[in-house]
Amino acid sequence: MSRNRQPSFDLPTGLRLRPWTQADAAGTLLAMQDPLVRHYAGFLVSDRNQALARIHRSAGAWADETGAHWAISSRSGEVLGSIGFGQLLSGVESGSVGYWLLPEVRGRGVVTAAVRVGTTAVFQHLGWHRIELYHAVENEPSCAVARRCGYLMEGVMRDAMRYPDDGRWSNEHLHARLASDPPPG
Ligand SMILES: CC(C)(COP(=O)(O)OP(=O)(O)OC[C@H]1O[C@@H](n2cnc3c(N)ncnc32)[C@H](O)[C@@H]1OP(=O)(O)O)[C@@H](O)C(=O)NCCC(=O)NCCS
Repeated sequence: MSRNRQPSFDLPTGLRLRPWTQADAAGTLLAMQDPLVRHYAGFLVSDRNQALARIHRSAGAWADETGAHWAISSRSGEVLGSIGFGQLLSGVESGSVGYWLLPEVRGRGVVTAAVRVGTTAVFQHLGWHRIELYHAVENEPSCAVARRCGYLMEGVMRDAMRYPDDGRWSNEHLHARLASDPPPG
């Protein structure tokens, strides 16, 4: 159990990267209504109890040293996005990162900034060796985030993901960044 408090960070255009709180349940449910967020979400929450349970797990991961999850929020606290780093296997010093952002704040470099600062914090705090990033092959905005954040493309994984929104199988790009990789320019 870590004694370090999970940090918060400033993001472009006055947004914040900060830990999840129970007050974010309604905002999470609302965000899951966005068609593109739903389309590419690896999990969906459909009621308040599911949202609260998800937030509880996300908020505890930093202290448990099993991952790190942040909300992207406005200054007033409104949930606008999410990034989360989860451990791949217990005892293996590697994880994966996922993210989404609501349309009103896309296209401003917010997720790129969040993934960059989150990656640095996770390598320092959790001591992971490698972080993987997967996205559907046609999801070019997500591929651009990966490239801008120094996650190198390693290949295409066939039918590696089944999205809960519609049950479709998806070919996914595999990107990854090692702790020893140079930071992105
Ligand atoms: C994927 C997703 C998170 C990317 O969001 P985004 O806001 O485009 O990502 P970034 O933060 O990297 O911003 C990049 C855009 O900001 C612009 N930008 C402005 N200032 C910038 C800066 N300082 N640094 C980087 N980009 C900047 C870029 O030019 C780019 O614009 P463009 O899309 O017109 O080319 C978003 O599209 C999304 O939530 N999609 C739906 C869910 C999803 O796909 N999740 C990922 C599943 S793997």
